[in-house]
Amino acid sequence: MSTTLRYGLIGTGMMGLEHQRNLNAIEGVEVVAAADPVQESLDWATFTAEGRPLETFLDYRDLLTADICDAYVISSPNFTHRAVLDDVMKSGKAIMVEKPLCTTVADARHILEQARTYPNVFWVGLEYRYMPPVQHIIQVAQRGELGDVAMVAIREHRHPFLVKVGNWNRFSENTGGTLTEKCCHFFDLMRLIAQSNPMRVMATGDQRFNHLDETYDGRTPDILDNAFVIVDFENGVRASLDLSMFAEGSVNNEELSIVGRTGKAEAFIPSGIVRVGQRSGWGAGVHEETIVDDRVLVEGFHHGASFLEHLDFAQAIRTGTPALVTAEDGYWSVLMGAAAHLSIDEGRVVHLSELR
Ligand SMILES: NC(=O)c1ccc[n+]([C@@H]2O[C@H](COP(=O)([O-])OP(=O)(O)OC[C@H]3O[C@@H](n4cnc5c(N)ncnc54)[C@H](O)[C@@H]3O)[C@@H](O)[C@H]2O)c1
Repeated sequence: MSTTLRYGLIGTGMMGLEHQRNLNAIEGVEVVAAADPVQESLDWATFTAEGRPLETFLDYRDLLTADICDAYVISSPNFTHRAVLDDVMKSGKAIMVEKPLCTTVADARHILEQARTYPNVFWVGLEYRYMPPVQHIIQVAQRGELGDVAMVAIREHRHPFLVKVGNWNRFSENTGGTLTEKCCHFFDLMRLIAQSNPMRVMATGDQRFNHLDETYDGRTPDILDNAFVIVDFENGVRASLDLSMFAEGSVNNEELSIVGRTGKAEAFIPSGIVRVGQRSGWGAGVHEETIVDDRVLVEGFHHGASFLEHLDFAQAIRTGTPALVTAEDGYWSVLMGAAAHLSIDEGRVVHLSELR
């Protein structure tokens, strides 16, 4: 491995370029290559390189054959992850694959099996863990400042899905469904905060308003845009997700709360506000502050989270230490999304044991 870590991007749409901008700003790393089947996306990557040398490939397999990288960052559409990973894992190089790990439970199981013996860093881009206010309240909980954690509530009220290259995100078969595609982040946070695996899931939701007036090759999108999901964890923690994707009339897109035996912590994004209070102080004892992480040099579309994630990914590659966001984390978040969709489809409680 050269002293400077050399990265190759696979997929240079919105998220691939966010990774590129992050890496451009980090010392000791360089993006040397990009692969994407769409020339326009490659042109964006060349533009984002801002004069740095960048080799481009229309087929990622030619990038792998060139063997000029120490690490690959996979930001191709969700439904391509499994096939791309099958090829990239033959390289033995460090890998960061965007969330969701893949779109089906069968693929998640397959990738987890491969990753268990992978000889290099295998990292899943569940970067909401790195949003500074989220990190802050997770640390508060993990230091025991809330007592035994009992409840996790996550609300995402945001805008509809954006337009993607080739409109791949308009159909559940390509995304894994909204509760996998989007909400894998929140299921991952629930599991991280609960420090336990999920036992059962109950959900309700549908496609109420979004994308119903669009057609692609004669088909109308089938993308769920609102849901409530309840998750019971093995250790008794319970969590809820409240999702609306027609809620532009909001100050914050994400609101998280963790309640323990003795205290409560909340985080609001993008305002960056966190509140931590103890039962004994009632409302008067609630401390409020705005969390900023000075290490963030690129805000991107995720409030610096994917930048911070790259600092840890590079550190893991250099030190040969295991990934901090693992294939197992990716696997569970896909399973929880699939369980929530199954619960909606069949109108019943779904036990995770059915999917494992
Ligand atoms: N971590 C996050 O918060 C976050 C945010 C947005 C997107 N994502 C994930 O990033 C991935 C890409 O999403 P996006 O928003 O950039 O989509 P996008 O449509 O903007 O870009 C995807 C790019 O991948 C290219 N592509 C298609 N097939 C490919 C293949 N086989 N090999 C290489 N490139 C291929 C497309 O041509 C396109 O340029 C998805 O998995 C998505 O879920 C993660």
